[in-house]
Amino acid sequence: MKMIFLGPPGAGKGTLADRAKDILGIPQISTGGIFRAAVAAGSPLGLKVKSIMDAGKLVDDETTIELVKERLTQDDVKKGYILDGFPRTIPQAEALAGFSTVDKVINFDIPDSGVLVRLGGRRVCRMCGFNFHAVFNPPPQEGVCDKCGGEVYIRDDDQPEAIQKRLEVYRAQTEPLINYYREKNLLLDIDASPMIEEIVVSFKKVLGL
Ligand code: AP5
Ligand code: MG
Ligand code: ZN
Repeated sequence: MKMIFLGPPGAGKGTLADRAKDILGIPQISTGGIFRAAVAAGSPLGLKVKSIMDAGKLVDDETTIELVKERLTQDDVKKGYILDGFPRTIPQAEALAGFSTVDKVINFDIPDSGVLVRLGGRRVCRMCGFNFHAVFNPPPQEGVCDKCGGEVYIRDDDQPEAIQKRLEVYRAQTEPLINYYREKNLLLDIDASPMIEEIVVSFKKVLGL
């Protein structure tokens, strides 16, 4: 199954992808996660994207498309994959169509108020990338990831100004993909507001699992 997770920042794409990859036995490919790893490693890609990400803007299409195209040549995607956070623009979607088919697009439906609560409390593991939440899902020991022992921190783009910018960018550049994929009959909507267990149930239901 080749799948796209589409939705606003903080909708819970990464949180559901972490569960869905085990349910379906396919890898999660998070472009945001790949960029954050590059920033942490201080690689040329990381140096290029850090200030763009911190400001809540999108990395340019060319860089992002190349990255995904290259990732999809690796062996682990033969049975399928979950693209978490890609495509985010119409040119990215058109480019993807040139190097891969897409079976389903999951559209995460959530109001801005829900997004603000989620992003405001998000805590992330610096080592494994797991998404915690200060209220809904705190790590058992404050500041320490119980999956890998890594440091749990607040993402640089989870500051109020960057959150507003990401929501604006989402409306202008990413939301048009909802109609783009609906017209291709690939879109499945899920209500992303409930707690994660309920969302896992809806996810399986829309896929007929
Ligand atoms: P990216 O990392 O993709 O960030 P984003 O889209 O802003 O989305 P988030 O990761 O913030 O949210 P999410 O939907 O995964 O929510 P999460 O599961 O964490 O991208 C970062 C940056 O990289 C971009 O701004 C851009 O600069 C660049 N980039 C990435 N892809 C790009 C592309 N294709 N093109 C160009 N640039 C690109 O959940 C949020 C919080 O809520 C967590 O704390 C979680 O614990 C909690 N939570 C989740 N679900 C639930 C639930 N059901 N109930 C209660 N709490 C929940
Ligand atoms: Mg994410
Ligand atoms: Zn961890």
